Amino acid sequence: MYTLRTLIFITTLLILTQSSVALSRPEAIDSLLKRLDSKRASSSVQESAAIAVLKRLLPSHIHSFVFEIVSKDVCRGHSCFLINNYYKKSSGNGPEISIKGTTAVEIASGLHWYLKYQCGAHISWDKTGGVQIASIPRPGSLPLVKDKGVMIQRPVPWNYYQNVVTSSYSYVWWNWERWEKELDWMALQGINLPLAFTGQEAIWHKVFMNFNITTEDLNDFFGGPAFLAWARMGNLHSWGGPLPHNWLDQQLCLQKQILSRMLELGMTPVLPSFSGNVPAALKKIFPSANITRLGDWNTVDKNPQWCCTYLLNPSDPLFVEIGEAFIRQQVKEYGDVTDIYNCDTFNENSPPTSDPAYISSLGAAVYKAMSRGDKDAVWLMQGWLFYSDSAFWKPPQMQALLHSVPFGKMIVLDLFAEAKPIWKNSSQFYGTPYVWCLLHNFGGNIEMYGILDAISSGPVDARTSDNSTMVGVGMCMEGIEQNPVVYELMSEMAFRSGKPQVLEWLKTYSHRRYGKAVHQVVAAWDILYHTVYNCTDGIADHNTDFIVKVS
Ligand SMILES: *[C@@H]1O[C@H](CO)[C@@H](O)[C@H](O)[C@H]1NC(C)=O
Ligand SMILES: *[C@@H]1O[C@H](CO)[C@@H](O)[C@H](O)[C@H]1NC(C)=O
Ligand SMILES: *[C@@H]1O[C@H](CO)[C@@H](O)[C@H](O)[C@H]1NC(C)=O
Ligand SMILES: *[C@@H]1O[C@H](CO)[C@@H](O)[C@H](O)[C@H]1NC(C)=O
Ligand SMILES: *[C@@H]1O[C@H](CO)[C@@H](O)[C@H](O)[C@H]1NC(C)=O
Repeated sequence: MYTLRTLIFITTLLILTQSSVALSRPEAIDSLLKRLDSKRASSSVQESAAIAVLKRLLPSHIHSFVFEIVSKDVCRGHSCFLINNYYKKSSGNGPEISIKGTTAVEIASGLHWYLKYQCGAHISWDKTGGVQIASIPRPGSLPLVKDKGVMIQRPVPWNYYQNVVTSSYSYVWWNWERWEKELDWMALQGINLPLAFTGQEAIWHKVFMNFNITTEDLNDFFGGPAFLAWARMGNLHSWGGPLPHNWLDQQLCLQKQILSRMLELGMTPVLPSFSGNVPAALKKIFPSANITRLGDWNTVDKNPQWCCTYLLNPSDPLFVEIGEAFIRQQVKEYGDVTDIYNCDTFNENSPPTSDPAYISSLGAAVYKAMSRGDKDAVWLMQGWLFYSDSAFWKPPQMQALLHSVPFGKMIVLDLFAEAKPIWKNSSQFYGTPYVWCLLHNFGGNIEMYGILDAISSGPVDARTSDNSTMVGVGMCMEGIEQNPVVYELMSEMAFRSGKPQVLEWLKTYSHRRYGKAVHQVVAAWDILYHTVYNCTDGIADHNTDFIVKVS
């Protein structure tokens, strides 16, 4: 068997190799990282949050671990975790293992790493198997790590999570209890840049009221709970609605709980911003505003009751006013919790002309609205349009959009990088920092597939390529709770500087997942690796069959 000792040896080797290479990062990104670090919760708050994760996961071992937040200086300015044996003065069921990390997320990731690679445990979503912790020895008998301990440094600063549609495919009916579990899962996987989209309609309600839009107007605007993502993107309006007032209140309350926990764990939430999507009534209140009626998107049979929403042109001064008001309202409700805002104005919706100067002015206006509300705002944009609408987004148009804001004020998600990477043919987004993302799972359809080789090598190739502008890895699946192997490997890439050997990795994966080594299972995973988990056809939706066709 591929022993744990070998794995730790390899890990150590990787760290040694890496520490001799200075990671170059643009100064703008460094100063953003410093600013975000300065907003984090205190060390004691984060340490308590990490202990609480342990308590929910493994209450029997609450006294076996000692957690400590350490400065990035410990890892030459980078984020990292360190696992060491705790040399106790007295015997008994006291601490055995010490885990240090630069935030609570790194501590939780270190705990996860230890439980995986020292104790053979496995942690998955409940719907994809839940936790396998039977292999963890009882307190007092935890395995020791090698003398010098384990030190793992993030090769890139960020690990992003979620797609703007995940809220609708997976989370919409969740209560706090389910969210708390997900936030624990996120911390254990090392996610430090999660989208936080819950409750935004409550914020919009307050903002639009100040622009004299009525509740009735908004009833014709917001989608129902199950369709929020598409209403937010302007694909449809009022479908499945209206949203009762108690829904708005309850979602806002939930969002505050989610944000508090993200902050306690040392994560940087990504909040929504204004993309131009407005209620029809705005046209009556501001008759001179430049508001365009969009065409029929997809699913609502051209019925104007639901289709053909209105887009306020970013070059209109009202755009900046509304955009600023929305950011300010969020700061008022949540406090100064982030500088990173998502905006996808041109997602499946091309600008009216392809003139680069015009596109550049639109981009500048979107950023202006954000930065008026938060002077340090950074625009995080899904790069889906560069793939889905590549006939429009040719190099001049891409450059115009990407260069429409000051350098370092935009981060792009290379959304479908496992199958259709854009970084390769865009001179790395023309110098713009980007996150290498796994897309996967289209439409919340449960299909057994993935491309493990692309996940194990893609982020490493992207980061080590000439003039790389990659600043993170991410998971932008449309719906969650499927294909756990894909998400476990992808999450590890946030902490791996070299390419894991997938077949070897799968052996340890199956051992951990099933609680013991079974050679038939290892053989089965070998088959899966070469078939459904080497699904290189690049097709987004395999829903015609429950297992993908392997050509
Ligand atoms: C909203 O209506 C009030 C009262 O009619 C008016 O004074 C105010 O200027 C309006 N606000 C906007 C943004 O139109
Ligand atoms: C309104 O916006 C459109 C593009 O959406 C633009 O072509 C037009 O010139 C704008 N009109 C005014 C009056 O600014
Ligand atoms: C870059 O590659 C993507 C994905 O393979 C493709 O969709 C796009 O058209 C390409 N863009 C350019 C400018 O070549
Ligand atoms: C990297 O940047 C250097 C300096 O600007 C340039 O000469 C070189 O061609 C670039 N390499 C690639 C692969 O773009
Ligand atoms: C996956 O498929 C590609 C292309 O069909 C092939 O080159 C590669 O060897 C396969 N990898 C595995 C692990 O089967």
